[in-house]
Amino acid sequence: MTAQAALREAIPRLRASGVEDAARDARLLLAHAMGVAADRLTLHLSDPLDAAANTRFQSAVAARMARQPVSQITGQRLFWGRSFLVTPDVLDPRPETEVLVAVALGQPFHHMLDLGTGSGCILLSCLADMPAAQGTGVDLSKAALSVARRNAARLDLGHRSRFQLSDWCETVQGRFDLILSNPPYIAAAEMAALSPEVRLWEPHLALTPGGDGLAAYRAIAVQCPERLLPGGRLLVEIGPTQGAAVSQLFADQGLVDLAVLPDMDGRDRVVMARKPV
Ligand SMILES: C[S@@+](CC[C@H](N)C(=O)[O-])C[C@H]1O[C@@H](n2cnc3c(N)ncnc32)[C@H](O)[C@@H]1O
Repeated sequence: MTAQAALREAIPRLRASGVEDAARDARLLLAHAMGVAADRLTLHLSDPLDAAANTRFQSAVAARMARQPVSQITGQRLFWGRSFLVTPDVLDPRPETEVLVAVALGQPFHHMLDLGTGSGCILLSCLADMPAAQGTGVDLSKAALSVARRNAARLDLGHRSRFQLSDWCETVQGRFDLILSNPPYIAAAEMAALSPEVRLWEPHLALTPGGDGLAAYRAIAVQCPERLLPGGRLLVEIGPTQGAAVSQLFADQGLVDLAVLPDMDGRDRVVMARKPV
């Protein structure tokens, strides 16, 4: 069987399982199974698919039919121009989170803290583009921290990054001129409406703090002022309706220069605050 024939056979099966962009996903999975770059797949479509590659492809298609995200099946995701390892223990890095990285990199910083680091995508992207900076990533998930450490090593950033187990700032020492976080922010009532890819396959701890979705911001608002240097910045990702509530939580703790910034789709995505000098 050629690669093209295998692709043709897989697309309707994926579609029948409710996969939204079945043709795109089938191509990504086939490229992964064949060990070729996705943008080179067309050149290989008339090649015969050997037995080992076909086995890999069929098991990848079966996983996708069970609605496992493509990034978990291929084990990687491109974020801020770099490839990150992704496992079921970490949130699949989202394109909208790149806005947080862009805003962070808009001003120089030396010591950064990333709360709820997951794959490490925020911390490591910022460090990679700020060559003199050092950073700490914390998470409540040991398994996530091990993925983040592997990503740091892959990106040759092990010497400028450290990772530690912590309930937000609980075990964090020292002060930082930049604190970033993309915490879990989905309200309990919104969980049922999530796609199966997110609801069934991504870590619950990464998605929701329960209740109204604001619990992580409440903890961060209370704990971060003590960990910020005077003039230091606190930047958090938010859900599009949470800008006013999160800004208020930060203002209540004495933080200043509050701003709510949009993502590329024009939806509120980042709340920015500063510790007074
Ligand atoms: C939305 S995910 C963000 C992951 C990654 N920073 C990203 O943007 O892709 C939230 C992360 O916060 C972590 N987390 C949840 N509760 C936490 C807590 N109390 N203390 C520290 N980390 C926590 C989760 O394990 C998860 O890795």
